[in-house]
Order: sequence, then structure tokens, then C-alpha cells
Amino acid sequence: MCGIFGIVTATERRLGGILLSAGRRLAYRGYDSVGAATIDRPGRIDLRKDVGKIDAVNARLHLDEMEGERGIVQLRWATFGSPSYENAQPHLDSDGDLVGAHNGNIVNNVQLREEFIRAGMTVRGTNDGESCVHAVERYVDQGLPMTEAIRRAARDLQGDYAFVIASKDERDEAGRPVIHAIKMGSGLVVGLGDGFACVSSDLPSVLPLTNRIVRIRDGEMVTLHPDRVEIRRVEDGALIEREVETFTEGMDAAEKGGYPHFMEKEIHEQPKVAADLIHLLTASPHVAPFLDDLESARHVYFVGCGTSYHACLIGAAYFNRIAGIPAVGILAPQFTETIARTLGPDDAVVFVSQSGETKDVLSAVNAARPRGARILGVLNVLGSALMHASDHYLPLACGYEISVPATKTFLNQVILFLYLADRLRREGRPIDWPRVPVLIGETLAATDAAAKQVAELLNPHSEMYYLGYGLTLGTAMEGALKLKEITYAHCEGMLSSEFKHGPLSAVHDGYPVVFVSAPDDAAMMVNHVNEVTCRGGRAIVVAAADELLGKNASDYITLPDAGHDLTALISVLPLQLVSYYMSLARGIDPDFPRNLSKTLTVD
Ligand code: G6P
Repeated sequence: MCGIFGIVTATERRLGGILLSAGRRLAYRGYDSVGAATIDRPGRIDLRKDVGKIDAVNARLHLDEMEGERGIVQLRWATFGSPSYENAQPHLDSDGDLVGAHNGNIVNNVQLREEFIRAGMTVRGTNDGESCVHAVERYVDQGLPMTEAIRRAARDLQGDYAFVIASKDERDEAGRPVIHAIKMGSGLVVGLGDGFACVSSDLPSVLPLTNRIVRIRDGEMVTLHPDRVEIRRVEDGALIEREVETFTEGMDAAEKGGYPHFMEKEIHEQPKVAADLIHLLTASPHVAPFLDDLESARHVYFVGCGTSYHACLIGAAYFNRIAGIPAVGILAPQFTETIARTLGPDDAVVFVSQSGETKDVLSAVNAARPRGARILGVLNVLGSALMHASDHYLPLACGYEISVPATKTFLNQVILFLYLADRLRREGRPIDWPRVPVLIGETLAATDAAAKQVAELLNPHSEMYYLGYGLTLGTAMEGALKLKEITYAHCEGMLSSEFKHGPLSAVHDGYPVVFVSAPDDAAMMVNHVNEVTCRGGRAIVVAAADELLGKNASDYITLPDAGHDLTALISVLPLQLVSYYMSLARGIDPDFPRNLSKTLTVD
């Protein structure tokens, strides 16, 4: 998965600064390599690209100084072809007349490259973005105009993708330069400004330039002129009318607001986003139909990947415990291969995705739909593919989450599930919702120092376990994922009672094991703690104050008293902080850990 951005302006100017800013905003999508191309008025292409993060590449190649009327920038997360200069995007065609960059996967890339090489084209690397450019070149060489060549190319390219492309000599009937883009499964939005038009993989990279937005749909292509855009249906080339939307949401979220990293900022935004979500859920007319579908379903599944999957585990546990509704949390690709085959029209599936664009999740939606099940979406990015694919959806109301490790969106996913379960509650005391945001703030303040100490004691270790039980299994797994993502240590999250069935053999003197316990499980957890400590292991407990646990633990992060259900929620907060501090201690940028991407639009 990658990020692409293109711009066309009425007059030649220093476009480098714009490309650099847009590239920085897209950096969460990939940072194996970065490249920019500009085309000046006489039609000369300046292409600068290299392996590495955007600021390092800019320091070497001075992307910010590039000039022209048209510009493209691409941030790459490598799938086809290793991260290298040749595979860095944008790419040129054989003669250097076309320049383009893509996001997504061209699954027939290998066959296409063979065809291009046989046809005598200059194929420089193994990246599938280059195949998009050659696919267009093939039809341009036959004399077709760009729009027609792109349409034909789309017939040859298999997979989910979007690309932006420009021909150095192409100008419109008014003599102005143009660029083109196509959307076939990956995100693409257009911005219209004063004397320019731009196109990008996401909205936050466009909003600093203009709030006049045109949304492009799958199977459409767009030609950008400095003063207008033309949208065409790829299938038959027919022109499509589309309204320009004026977007009013602020961009504060994309700035660090005084924090050194987006991750720390986003961790500390959690009391506020929790309050926003609770307010939204209380007032939203969309909650009732969502609940109706869940209540009347034969089976309920919670489906997601990565962090969202961990929230699904907790969500399913809440539904079983609180609402008495049988529910199962499952990874999206596993759902596709198993449950989706036996789904029926009486089943409801809650698809959970921060981005709403994760390919594994969208494939699971596609597997569920033909079987007639209700498709319910929980997502943070409004306008995302999951939103459009859902019968009903609920937003997470977190604002933009920039840092690659998810924090505030996980918390709000769990809050949303607890809220729904609480509305369907069969017994027990309802949650005191106005207290929840306060509790989150108190937990952050109360556990920060202890989390820093735990980060210090874990830092010398390259492997460890995080164990949870019942409701806290998902929390422990999420804490372990945060640690893996941004410290590069190996950290396994699993059920504490399962630890004795094998992994216990790893324990030796000082071996660290973190236990996350909710109050009702404390007595059970004491057994699991002792299985570790009696073998010399170091048991770090994350729980509300508990005499039994306190006497048996080696170290303790004390949570505020929150009751059983809310402890699963708040216990993730110190775990986020532990990972953050350990990441800093290791000199790693927690916002952009190596090899990862925030939104994975590939299988
Ligand atoms: C990627 C990200 C993870 C995220 C997962 C699911 O792997 O690096 O942080 O949890 O995708 O993303 P989603 O947008 O579907 O929640």
C-alpha cells in the first residue's frame, strides 16, 4: 500500500514544497521509498526518487526545490519489488514521455512485465507501478489519446489500484497542462483550488490546499485541468457529472499540537475522543437499527485485522457477558475462509476497521454479502469503502489518527462495543457513561510514571509475553502488538491459562511476563502469576489494587478502580505508554515503525 498525490497548476511555479507537504501527510501509508516528478512548461520531466523516508530523501535530493506546472509524489510501501531506486515511484515510460505512480497491487504484474519486455519496452525495475505506466504507453504508442490509452490500460491491469499519470507534451484545448488519475479499488480524492487541481490517495493531504473536494468512485478516471476536472466512466468513457463538496472539518488533528510524536498526542487525546464518541452514540439515530440487527441475529461475528481484531475479541466478550448474545471475534481472512461459507441471512457481521480500507476486511465483506448476512460497519474514516459497503455503520469519531500504531481508535472501538452491549444489557449495573472519559484521563495520569519504569525494565529484553484472561485477552494481545510494532522486540499476547501448555518453558531467571487482569479474574490470575514467578520469571501485573495479586507480583501498574467491564478498556492505556516509552528508549520513531503501513490495501 502506498500514497500518491498529483497536482496541475495554471502557472509554472516551485511545486516542490507542495509535493513535500503532501508527501509528509501521506507518509503513514508507506515509507520504504519516496519519489517526486515535476514537468515544466517546455515539457521537461524532473524525476527525483530514492529509498528511505521523505525527509531523508528530501535532504539528499532537494525535492522541495523542484519546479513545474505539474507534479506527482509517491510514498511506497513495498509489495512487488524490493525497496530500491529502480522500484521507487514515480516511473517513466520507455522514452521518458510519460511519468506516473500507483497505489495498490497489480496481480498480473509478472505476466505484464514479460509482455512489455517482449515488445521491446524499457522495463527498469520489478515494481507494479511501473507496469501501470507501460500499460498506458502501449496504447499511447498506437496513437490513442491519453484518456483512451488509460481506459484500455485498465483492461489489462488486474488487481485493486489507483494511479496518477501525465504525458509531458499533453495540453488541453486551451493550451493548459493536464494530469490524469484512475481509481480501480484504491482510495482517490480530487481537490479543486484557485488555479490548480490536485488528486490524492487521501483527504488529509488535500485539505491544507483546498476544501473543495470531488470524490472519485471505483471504475472512474479523472482528467485534471488547472481550473476544472472531467470524470469519466472507465467502462465506456462516458463523462460523469459530480458535485463539488465543500469540506468543513478542521485539520488540527494532522498537526502534532506540541507533542514530540503523533502517538503521544493521540494517546492523550483519548479522554476527549471517548467523550465525543459517547456523546455521538447517545444522540445518534443510527444506533437503534444497528442494535436491532444485532439483537435479532442468529449469530453475531466481530471481524477485523490487527488492532481492530483485538477490539473485536473484547467486543465479542462484552456481547456474551453483558448482553447474553452469542458472539465470536475472528480475523477477517480466517472469517472469509471459514465462517463466511456457512453464513445465512439471519446472521449479522460487524466489520471493524479504523481506515475502512483494509483489503482483508473488504474481502471478508465481499464474502459475506452474497450469503445475505447483515453487514454492519464500525470505522473511523468517513467516506471509506467499508462505510459504503455497510448496511448500517457507526463512526468512531476519533478524528484523524496519523501515527501508524493505533491507539485512540482502539479505545473508541472498545467503548463502542461496550456501549452497544450495555444498551442490550440483560443483568448487572449499567455503565456510568459520563464517568468514562474522566476515568480514562485519570488512568493516563495515574499510570504514566509506572509505565515508564516498566518500559525501562523491559527494554533490555528482546522477547516477552503479555497475558490476559477473559475480557483482558484482547487487551493483552493489543498491548503485545503495540510493543512489537514500535520496539521491534518479540512480544506474544495470549490467554494466561494457556501459557502453561508450552510457552512456560521460555521462563528463566528474570524473564518478563506482563499480566493484565480485570477484578473478577484476580484469583485465577494469581495462579498464573505464580507459575511464572516460582520459575524465576518476573511477573509485571497491570490491574486495580488487589491484595492477592499485589503479594504475588514482582511489579505492579495500579489501575483506578473501574469495575470488571471497564478494566478491559482502561488497562490498554498503560500498555500504550509502555510501548511508547520503550520505543523512544530504543531510538525508534514510534509514528513510523519500519516495514509497516497504517492502511493495508493489499492481500
Ligand atoms: C495495519 C496497521 C494496523 C491496523 C491494521 C488494521 O496492519 O498497521 O495498525 O490495526 O492494519 O487496520 P484497520 O484500518 O482495518 O483497522
